Amino acid sequence: MSTPILECHEIAKSFGGFAAANAIDMRVDEGEFVGIIGSNGAGKTTLLNIVSGHLKPTTGRVMFRGEDVTGVPARVLARKGIARSFQVPQLFATSTARENMMLATSLLAEPRRAIVSRFDDHHLAEAADEALDHYGIAEHGDSLVSELPQGVRKLLDIAMATSADPSLVLLDEPTSGVSSDEKNDVMQRLADRFGEDRTTVVFIEHDMEIVRRYATRVVALTDGAVIADGPPDVVFADATVSKVIVGEPVSAAESA
Ligand SMILES: Nc1ncnc2c1ncn2[C@@H]1O[C@H](COP(=O)(O)OP(=O)(O)OP(=O)(O)O)[C@@H](O)[C@H]1O
Ligand SMILES: [Mg+2]
Repeated sequence: MSTPILECHEIAKSFGGFAAANAIDMRVDEGEFVGIIGSNGAGKTTLLNIVSGHLKPTTGRVMFRGEDVTGVPARVLARKGIARSFQVPQLFATSTARENMMLATSLLAEPRRAIVSRFDDHHLAEAADEALDHYGIAEHGDSLVSELPQGVRKLLDIAMATSADPSLVLLDEPTSGVSSDEKNDVMQRLADRFGEDRTTVVFIEHDMEIVRRYATRVVALTDGAVIADGPPDVVFADATVSKVIVGEPVSAAESA
């Protein structure tokens, strides 16, 4: 069996006396599209923050391609190929989509050079348009972020976070705040983008229809612990998942 791209061993994180994560074990293989589900406060973002290096676990180990990266800072993990997006997009609202993308691209290429002057760079603009095109949002290049629909903002934010072509992408609620009409479109573009070269994705999602449709595997968290892990139909058929997370029993017809 090949080495998993990501392994979490007994990850625990306490804030004061409160355990936000409690002995979480999770394994992700190359090319998987893993959905993490759980109620508000279940520990989903905490787990992602630990994997991306934004938080150090109280105990436990994170392995990336077999290397122990526990506690390694996010900027170092980014260079190793781990990228993540946040629940709320991190964008400059009064700049265009292209300018935002150019900033991400220029920071990546030449972090020490003055950024503003790079906006003149024709090549940088071309690279930005190409990156936007990967996510099917090139047509919005000239639009101000403040004018964009939420779904396009989320895609832009993810395009910026992944401009270094990472091998492991962590997405915290890629469809949160997105209208129900737009949600499938956002996920389909992400599935197309990352499916193309089998980039491994771990995404947190509250919309169970989206999870059912797009996740190749589902990990369900409650009170900082994994209560189910497996194919979507198996996890959604689990009585505790239905009761605690989904809120109502899922019929066989719905999950088919
Ligand atoms: N920095 C912190 N300090 C104190 N408590 C925290 C901190 N970060 C998270 N928590 C607590 O840990 C628990 C898990 O938080 P987390 O953000 O991981 O939940 P979540 O599953 O992502 O929830 P949501 O679906 O609402 O985003 C929550 O009770 C939260 O209040
Ligand atoms: Mg969260």
